[in-house]
Amino acid sequence: MKKLTALFLAVLMTLALGACSSGGNASNPGANTGSAPAAPEGAKEVTVGLIQLMEHPSLDEIRGAITARLEEKAAENGLTVKVNYQNGQGDTSTINTICQQFVANKVDVIVAIATPAAQGAATAAQGSGIPVVFSAVTDPVDAGLVESLEAPGGNITGTSDAIPVEKIFALARELTPEVKSYGLIYNTSEDNSLSVIAQVKTYLDGQQISYTDGAVTTSADVQTSARNLLGQCDAIFAPIDNTVASAMAVLADEAIQAKKPVYVAADSMVADGGLATVGVNYTNLGSQTADMVLKILTGTPAGEIPVEVLRDNAIVINGNTARAIGVDISKYGPNDADIVSAVN
Ligand code: TRP
Repeated sequence: MKKLTALFLAVLMTLALGACSSGGNASNPGANTGSAPAAPEGAKEVTVGLIQLMEHPSLDEIRGAITARLEEKAAENGLTVKVNYQNGQGDTSTINTICQQFVANKVDVIVAIATPAAQGAATAAQGSGIPVVFSAVTDPVDAGLVESLEAPGGNITGTSDAIPVEKIFALARELTPEVKSYGLIYNTSEDNSLSVIAQVKTYLDGQQISYTDGAVTTSADVQTSARNLLGQCDAIFAPIDNTVASAMAVLADEAIQAKKPVYVAADSMVADGGLATVGVNYTNLGSQTADMVLKILTGTPAGEIPVEVLRDNAIVINGNTARAIGVDISKYGPNDADIVSAVN
C-alpha cells in the first residue's frame, strides 16, 4: 500500500523558495558580504563562497537548505560561517569569474550548486588548496569532477541526485500506456542531461519506443523546440536539465495545449506544470551538502569523503496537469489534488 500525501502547490512553492541566504556582492564576489551572527567565544570565522548555476526553483530550494543547515550547525562545530552567495546567471564565463574571485579572496571552501557551476569551481580551485563541495551534480564522474564516487581524490566531493530513469518510465507506462514515441528536450552542453539522456535512450531502445532529440541552447529555445517535438511525438521527456527547468512553465503550457504528457526528472518541474516524475528530495540533498561542508571545515580532507548519492525517491504528479490532459491518477491520490506525492 503506497502512502499517499496530497500537497498543495503553494506548500511546494514555499518549500522551493526556502530560507533566504545572505546577499552577494556582484562587483566583488569574493568579498565577505554575508551578515554573520555574533561570533560565539572562540568560534573560528570561516567564509563559504557559494555559487549557483542560475536561479530556478530546485536550485533555490537547495541553496536555502544549505544555508539553513550551515546556520543551524555552525556553532556546535565551533564555527561562525559567512556565506557569500553568487548567481552564475547560467553563463560559463560569469561562473569562471566568480570562482576565480572566490579563490583570489581565499574563501575557506567553495560550494557549487549544479554541474556547470561545479565544473567552473573545480577548475578555478585547482592547485589553490581551497576545497570544493558540489551539490546536486547528477553524474560527477561523467562531468569530470571526481575519479570515483567512493574515493573522489583531489580536493573535491559533494552530493549527487541520481535519476531513477527506469522508475520514471515505469510510471509513464502506467499513466499513459498509449505513448509510443518521446521527444527528448535538453541542452547538449549540460553533462548532467547527457548522462540521463544516454540512459533514457538505452531504456527506450529496449522497449521499442522511438524518440526524437530536441536540442536547446538557452531557455528562450524551449518553446520552439517543445512545439516541434509535440508535433511529432506522443509525449515529451525532459531530463534533469537546468536550461529546460528555467523555462518549465512554457514547456508545460505547450504540452497542455497539445494535450500530451511531459515527464520530467525533478519535483520542481512537476510543480511548474510537468505531469510526473520519480525524484529525490532537494531539501535533504542541500542539508547533506552542508553537513559535508562542515566536516571539511572541521578538518577532514574533501577528497577523502565519498560522494553522497541520494537514492530515496518519491513519485510526484501534477493533478492539475493530469486533469487538463485527461490522465487518470486516481491510483496515486485524490482526484482534485494539485500535487500528489507518493512514496516510491
Ligand atoms: N542535477 C542538476 C545538475 O547536475 C542540477 C539540478 C538540481 C536540477 N535540481 C534540478 C536541474 C532540477 C533541473 C531541475 O546540474
